[in-house]
Amino acid sequence: MTYLSRLRSISFFKLKEIDLRFNLIKDLDTILEIGCFPGGWTQYILSNYKDLKLISIDKKQINSFRSNDFYFIKGDIFDANIISIIRKVVKSNFNLIISDACINISGINAVDTINYILLIKRILLISKVFLIKGGNLLFKIMLGGLEYKIKQMFRPFLKIDFIRLACTKNRSSEVFVYCRFLRF
Ligand SMILES: C[S@@+](CC[C@H](N)C(=O)[O-])C[C@H]1O[C@@H](n2cnc3c(N)ncnc32)[C@H](O)[C@@H]1O
Repeated sequence: MTYLSRLRSISFFKLKEIDLRFNLIKDLDTILEIGCFPGGWTQYILSNYKDLKLISIDKKQINSFRSNDFYFIKGDIFDANIISIIRKVVKSNFNLIISDACINISGINAVDTINYILLIKRILLISKVFLIKGGNLLFKIMLGGLEYKIKQMFRPFLKIDFIRLACTKNRSSEVFVYCRFLRF
């Protein structure tokens, strides 16, 4: 561990795996991270990349990182004023948005599907406001059966990949959706 001696979460290795496979972060200037607590992804980025501005949001307070390149916003992405709060922190748009946020799974498929769609709609809206043209988005889903809907919703992106990680347990439905090249 290069940034801090203690690992914030094993999600550190999930982002590492995606980054090594897809060159997710190389050569970027600015990243917006949604759902950062307790900070494993944040730690991965700050440990491995310099000269990159990272803005991270979570409903829960994280123990901050001592870095001039990092800014934490405590907030809910469904809050009506979250867009203006983010805009106050950065004037320019982001190259990449990453989200590890998930809903509270109830086990009732119809309810979970609606809640997941609301969450990814919100992530899509934030991406349309804050991504540069040609920018990329990575987000997590924990529910099967949404692939077709996601392909339709995320048509503003040129390419969409569904990524299953080697470190994900066999029975888990965790999949990362990597949307590349925002067109409009
Ligand atoms: C799986 S954890 C993230 C783990 C993190 N990526 C890491 O590496 O440590 C998901 C986080 O998303 C946050 N979250 C879920 N819904 C959110 C929302 N609407 N607004 C802000 N944060 C949210 C939760 O509070 C939770 O801390």
